[in-house]
Amino acid sequence: MKPIRKAVFPVGGLGTRFLPATKALPKEMLPIVDKPLIEYAVEEARAAGIEEFVFVTGRGKTAIQNHFDSHFELEHALTAKGREEELSSITNAMGEPGQFAYVRQMEALGLGHAVWTARNFIGNEPFAVLLADDLISGEPGTLAEMAEVHTEHGGNVVALMEVPHADTARYGVVAPGGDDGKVVEVLDLVEKPDPADAPSNLAIVGRYILQPEVLGFLALGERGAGNEIQLTDSMAKMIGNMPFNGMRLSGTRYDCGTKVGFLEANVAFALERDDLGRDVFQRIEQVLEEHRQV
Ligand code: UTP
Repeated sequence: MKPIRKAVFPVGGLGTRFLPATKALPKEMLPIVDKPLIEYAVEEARAAGIEEFVFVTGRGKTAIQNHFDSHFELEHALTAKGREEELSSITNAMGEPGQFAYVRQMEALGLGHAVWTARNFIGNEPFAVLLADDLISGEPGTLAEMAEVHTEHGGNVVALMEVPHADTARYGVVAPGGDDGKVVEVLDLVEKPDPADAPSNLAIVGRYILQPEVLGFLALGERGAGNEIQLTDSMAKMIGNMPFNGMRLSGTRYDCGTKVGFLEANVAFALERDDLGRDVFQRIEQVLEEHRQV
């Protein structure tokens, strides 16, 4: 089985749910405590053995490129001040020269279109897709776990979580076959089904290991739910031709594309930190107390 070496990070969305913050700032640069969402996703990919990273960007996303580039002045100033910790926090994020590539989506026509835009970079090998606004806690990380499932079963692997039935219209949902509690055979996929039509409440969250054949289906440019070119629709066309499995998440997933999920992630990650947890806990208790009294 070929190991997964390449990852695609679609960051071309408009992030309308976070306006006005995302007018000039990419959604993926919003911080969870003190680190941007995109850096968590890159770290997760590295932990899974990814060596090449492509970002599918759009207008106004240059902050992401700058974030993973060297910043001579800042590095020099931190070195001069002996601020080793801050220095390593910025240099750790940078890869080797040439490891990071950027392509422009040009038009935000949907997630499927974003992945197809990276086709020349992907070539003819299996690859990962990570959506940075789905932040998933846990070590060594969801993509590393999925890579193990891929090594064992081959084909396509998507990350799955159970969602309330009423929420199926927000997700791609699978029709499950064999299920050993962790790995679930995928018999069909439906993008954003009404709860009444949903084949299950097992929803895809933003991690995928895909075979390059998906690019041929995406190339057709067919529109799906919301008149967007949906990744789910092209993935569904591979079912039956090769293994297709879902992997239930073992970590906690925070939907940082929504305000509530983003705030929840900030609180949860801050509480986990040795340097912040106690203080944050006390302050949150205070705030809650004040709000109880209102
Ligand atoms: P979302 O559905 O969250 O859309 O995209 P969005 O534009 O980012 O945010 P809202 O809904 O307007 O607030 C899911 C993922 O797919 C990427 C987004 O960047 C996000 O990671 N995406 C979406 C693209 O890269 N291109 C697209 O055309 C659409």
